[in-house]
Amino acid sequence: MAFPTETVYGLGASAFCPPAVEKIFIAKGRPASNPLLVHVSNFKQVEDIAREITPSARLLMDNFWPGPLSIILPARDNVPDIVRGGKDSVGLRMPSHPVALALIEQAGPLAAPSANLSGRPSPVTAGHVKNDLDGRIAAVLDAGATGLGLESTIIDLSNGRFRVLRRGGIPVEELEILLGEKVEVNLSASEQFVHYQTSTRVVLAGNKEEFQKCLEELQSGLKLGVVIYDNYSNGLCSLYEFSNQLKIYELDLETTNNKLYSILRDAEAEGLDVLLFCPLPLDLTGTASSWADRIRQAASKFA
Ligand code: TXA
Ligand code: MG
Repeated sequence: MAFPTETVYGLGASAFCPPAVEKIFIAKGRPASNPLLVHVSNFKQVEDIAREITPSARLLMDNFWPGPLSIILPARDNVPDIVRGGKDSVGLRMPSHPVALALIEQAGPLAAPSANLSGRPSPVTAGHVKNDLDGRIAAVLDAGATGLGLESTIIDLSNGRFRVLRRGGIPVEELEILLGEKVEVNLSASEQFVHYQTSTRVVLAGNKEEFQKCLEELQSGLKLGVVIYDNYSNGLCSLYEFSNQLKIYELDLETTNNKLYSILRDAEAEGLDVLLFCPLPLDLTGTASSWADRIRQAASKFA
């Protein structure tokens, strides 16, 4: 069953029921080697799942849970192989969405990836879930749009180091402040950094000149959308703003505003051929750098 969290919708099954978990992989078309995060609602469950909870792990949990941080720890043997994707570790997350917490409190720990077809943008509404998975899953628990619209940050503590595998809802800088040291970011260490498949071609302009060139080339005969960033892209689109061939989307990189994945799916629904993203500002920090990762991910095929 799909359910809301404060980040994106998840597709959940009891973490200790391998046949139910298998159905998640089938519904999503997800490779068996890609492990699932286990969603918990209390610390007793964490102790039943993680073999070791280091002081740093405890510190992170005390500060950021419930909330958009997933922590990878050594797994106990009783955590089914299918959940761990065959690894020795397991990812744990305590969501802050009241519906998610109530569900886990009733059902026990839930193994849950984002509720999209494998390789597609994460769903931030029940409608997005149905778009991808209607007829493939039992139900969607609809609680409206999720709050952040950006997945959890993933930190791997399973081998004595601090390593971020995915930027997300909790900025890396906040982890570093709490842990009192620099945290390595290694996005390619996890299987998540794959290209998003959308029927609209997504292009990210590297700089202003490339943006203008793309805009001129793509204008002719194609249905084009442009994404501008509030505070950054002012002026870039002024010439074209009134062109009725062009759909303009605004995205504020500084806030967790639930918009990017909706824009990608809207572009598809509108039948746009190309969605052109303005050049990303340099030196982004905080959640803006998480959004930038996702934009690069959506456009990676055309880089
Ligand atoms: O915000 C979120 O984290 C959402 C909501 C539903 O909680 N969940 C989510 O799950 O984004 P998913 O499966 O779409 O992304 C989790 C990522 C996957 O790329 C997976 O490879 C990685 O976490 N992961 C999970 N367990 C891992 C482990 N033991 N070692 C390394 N990577 C792991
Ligand atoms: Mg996902």
